[in-house]
Amino acid sequence: MILEKIENRTARAGVIGLGYVGLPLMVALASAGFRTIGIDICWKKIKRLKQGISDVPDVPNTVIAPLITSGQIQVTTAFDVLEDLDTVNICVPTPLREDRTPDMQYIVDAAEQIAQRLHAKQLIVLESTTYPGTTEEFVLPILNSHFNQSAPIQSLEVGRDFYLAYSPERIEPGNSTYYVANTPKIIGGVTRNCTKVAKTFYLQFINKIRTVSSPRTAEMVKLLENTFRSVNIGLINEVALICDRMDLDVWEIIDAAATKPFGFMPFYPGPGTGGHCIPIDPHYLSWKAQKYQYHARFIELASEINKEMPRYVVEKISHALNLQRKALNGSKLLILGVAYKKDVGDTRESPALEVIRLILDKKAEFIYHDPYVENLSLDSGTTYHSEPLTANLVQNADCVVILTDHGVVDYSWLVKNAQSIVDTRNATRSVQIGQEKIIKI
Ligand SMILES: NC(=O)c1ccc[n+]([C@@H]2O[C@H](COP(=O)([O-])OP(=O)(O)OC[C@H]3O[C@@H](n4cnc5c(N)ncnc54)[C@H](O)[C@@H]3O)[C@@H](O)[C@H]2O)c1
Repeated sequence: MILEKIENRTARAGVIGLGYVGLPLMVALASAGFRTIGIDICWKKIKRLKQGISDVPDVPNTVIAPLITSGQIQVTTAFDVLEDLDTVNICVPTPLREDRTPDMQYIVDAAEQIAQRLHAKQLIVLESTTYPGTTEEFVLPILNSHFNQSAPIQSLEVGRDFYLAYSPERIEPGNSTYYVANTPKIIGGVTRNCTKVAKTFYLQFINKIRTVSSPRTAEMVKLLENTFRSVNIGLINEVALICDRMDLDVWEIIDAAATKPFGFMPFYPGPGTGGHCIPIDPHYLSWKAQKYQYHARFIELASEINKEMPRYVVEKISHALNLQRKALNGSKLLILGVAYKKDVGDTRESPALEVIRLILDKKAEFIYHDPYVENLSLDSGTTYHSEPLTANLVQNADCVVILTDHGVVDYSWLVKNAQSIVDTRNATRSVQIGQEKIIKI
């Protein structure tokens, strides 16, 4: 019955959590022909979505608005709609607590809402990034522990009466080459039947599926992918620090090494890692590893090195100013890019925040320009606004600090107008004139 409904796309699909992950997923489902309902606890987000306004750059208003107007997508803050849904994807945040342990509250809240309305033949898929064991040890007991008013949930058996799987989201915000439909999906169901139903579901809107033996395996796949990035970024940041001492150009070295057609994959140094994934997800793994008396040394070390990079950037700024016989104290710095990566507007965990904190500590003044981040609120409570990138703005800065290599900036023009530049991303690599003004990490 559920398989038939999925295959003929009459199944009612639902997505819980409409952020960077949930919103594109909801659009992919609706575009495949499913009548889809999105649920989010943020009423402001729901209000904007009802007006056809998206907060996620990968989902432009021109895409979401017609789907809302036609009724193909409905959005709400009311969880009662779960009663009518055949499939539910959970895409809620999985941050770290202050003590850097997993904060599972968002998953608990979503799972409890589902549990109260769980019904026969419903497919539940967790997509949030999390530690191995979450789906079976954490979500399943919540689903099993609740009673529905009309039918006791405990009489529903996973794999027979309802289906539960883990399938990590792999999309990369800002990547226009790979999106939901053409990024292969990993699926691990609690039972074989769960995997089968989840696979049938995803095949409706994703080209390639790889099933694995269990949810724990699928959870670990995602953590491997993100830990791989974190550790390699940590390694290349360390190599950058060594090259600096040896007066070698790390960028030239990486480009030359990347000519090797096998056994090498280029990673690039930068001001540190940011976003919801790389600085956070590996800690989910190291936390879980500790439960098995294993101390994940690579993970902790990479994180330590990556977190030190903002301090190194400030050293470079200080050096650039020193060459002009200036001090950080009282200098005017123009920060170019505060988003954590190129061509996105996401400032979560952005290394720019730490660089700014450190330069303010040294009594430097700063202004910023980011074409994707209109306002920037600091922990201190002060909010800054992105300044228009004019020649005047660039010329008046004692040093321009490129923290994000947004594609829309004309770097030759920037270098021509700047007094001095610290380039943490090699954004100025093609600039012909004015290289002597540039200090790279
Ligand atoms: N952003 C990425 O690039 C990316 C990529 C792959 C995986 N992930 C993972 O996907 C998950 C979601 O990340 P995101 O970037 O989309 O987060 P996000 O913060 O952009 O969106 C999460 C949304 O969930 C909503 N929400 C929170 N609790 C809720 C609840 N109980 N019920 C309903 N809605 C709720 C929030 O209001 C928010 O709109 C995380 O586990 C993340 O690690 C993120």
